[in-house]
Amino acid sequence: MSDSLPVELICATGLTKEYPRPGGAARVVDDVSFSIRRGETLGLVGESGSGKSTVARMILRLIEPTSGSVRFAGQDVLAASRHDLRLLRRRMQIVFQDPYAALNPRMSVRQILAEPFAIHKQRPEGGLEARLNEMLTTVGLDAAALTRYPHQFSGGQRQRINIARALALRPEFLVLDEPVSALDVLVGAQVVNLLRDLQRDHGLTYLFISHSMPLVRYLCDRVAVMQKGRLVEIGDVLDICEHPSESYTQELIAATPQLP
Ligand SMILES: Nc1ncnc2c1ncn2[C@@H]1O[C@H](COP(=O)(O)OP(=O)(O)OP(=O)(O)O)[C@@H](O)[C@H]1O
Ligand SMILES: [Mg+2]
Repeated sequence: MSDSLPVELICATGLTKEYPRPGGAARVVDDVSFSIRRGETLGLVGESGSGKSTVARMILRLIEPTSGSVRFAGQDVLAASRHDLRLLRRRMQIVFQDPYAALNPRMSVRQILAEPFAIHKQRPEGGLEARLNEMLTTVGLDAAALTRYPHQFSGGQRQRINIARALALRPEFLVLDEPVSALDVLVGAQVVNLLRDLQRDHGLTYLFISHSMPLVRYLCDRVAVMQKGRLVEIGDVLDICEHPSESYTQELIAATPQLP
């Protein structure tokens, strides 16, 4: 590995995903290329079914692309051996939309937060108990949460638990797949502010998938716009919000109400 860090943490090139369908394959992601710089938040927007989650999952190699390449810190993710992929998985995490579905209802918060250390056979520096407390504090929850179960928390608190778990192994990159879409506006705004603070404090790099242009404008440095599997526009978030060059992007901006 080289000593000099490339500016780009993520480089996706020509990402394509086809699913077999009677009468020919359906191409749900078509030749998508972009990069994400270290410490940056790239927004990914587009109507439902445009392929946003599929792109995110291919970057993390949760699903295999039909073609294309992904580099993480210069390393070829799709060519990585099982061993290298395990190491990469510590460095990139995903937070999903539905904070309840993502948490096993039979596991206490302690078990949920300790699981990544068990899976990756890691012993946190300073001990597990101290680290679990620290993880909860980081997301604005009290250590008393450890003995409780997911159903005992509100939606916003559950999403904080998901975020805490995602941060367990101190990743560099988080995919946030509509992390606040299931929450009401005020609670969602608090979680977005938490994400913003976490990025500032830990130098995280984000791919933030959202339907809300105002949220993307608030949180993101750049935004990529997807339509029917293709990336139709990418650039500085303020430039694109003020001067969208695609009529489709204009429609997306017009379709979402402004934040108060
Ligand atoms: N396993 C699969 N098999 C077949 N088609 C799939 C599969 N997964 C996704 N698709 C299709 O791929 C397209 C893109 O889906 P994807 O979930 O990436 O969209 P999205 O932009 O994330 O949408 P949303 O905003 O609703 O989350 C959709 O038409 C979807 O039906
Ligand atoms: Mg999706």
